[in-house]
Amino acid sequence: MDEQTPEFDSTIAEYYRQAPEERRLEQGPFLLEALRTRELIERHAPAAPAVVLDIGGGAGAYAFWLAEAGYTVHLLDPVPRLIAEAQRRNATHPRPLASCRVGDARTTNFPDASAEIVLLLGPLYHLTAAQDRARALDEAARVLKPGGRLFAAAISRWTSALDGLARDLFQDPQFAPIAEQDARDGQHRNPTGRLDYFTTAYFHRPEDLRAEVLAAGLLIDGLYGVEGPGWMLPDVAERLADPRRRADLLRVAHTLESEPSLLGISAHLLVVARKPA
Ligand SMILES: C[S@@+](CC[C@H](N)C(=O)[O-])C[C@H]1O[C@@H](n2cnc3c(N)ncnc32)[C@H](O)[C@@H]1O
Repeated sequence: MDEQTPEFDSTIAEYYRQAPEERRLEQGPFLLEALRTRELIERHAPAAPAVVLDIGGGAGAYAFWLAEAGYTVHLLDPVPRLIAEAQRRNATHPRPLASCRVGDARTTNFPDASAEIVLLLGPLYHLTAAQDRARALDEAARVLKPGGRLFAAAISRWTSALDGLARDLFQDPQFAPIAEQDARDGQHRNPTGRLDYFTTAYFHRPEDLRAEVLAAGLLIDGLYGVEGPGWMLPDVAERLADPRRRADLLRVAHTLESEPSLLGISAHLLVVARKPA
């Protein structure tokens, strides 16, 4: 990263040095997150060929999928370990990424109006200060072409409370204060060292995510609950492996995806926005 790149939170950096983020979407409730996120991207994305900037793209789970679909994809992430893993995959990939480098969502160094699609599937929940999220969203708006689409993910304000019930985490006396602070102000902190309690983050209410995107001058096409309630089921991976029960999980997620009173029951929110033409 160059001298102008803002500082990356050291707690978050240490978390991704340890946590197996490059395999996260292959397991448990994250399988449903990945399926539904892809469904929503496919529904709203301009068709290939087009330029995609995957900002905060980790080791490239969505970047490689979009490259395989014919898009020209640039991957950016502040974690050197994840970028090294993406570069390793890229070296032998039949549809390689156009570029892959360490960088930050607040200052991407991509040219103005250079992309039809920007993915921000991570930065908005790891930038805990509102002014930093505004910088990331302004930067996304800057690099989008007029008419281009932004796909930005947030974590729901109530994820810890719901996850605590689903996984019986309240038996740990250290967990309740984490979930209570999340519900109070969205500022998720994990002083325990347990990787499954995640790391420093901001958990949004749906209306806050909407307001932040509008403040960047973007027009909202949709604000979705990604998983619906299915992510809380202890056997979600088994259900997804069974065609009929998989269809049911996806059907319910789809039915509830835009219902304002239930958006926050999903672990993830996804806003789809466009830069005015
Ligand atoms: C949970 S991972 C998600 C990765 C991938 N986009 C996905 O959806 O599976 C969150 C990602 O956000 C990245 N991230 C955190 N802070 C960031 C920032 N300031 N700028 C860009 N990316 C950031 C992390 O390095 C990490 O790869």
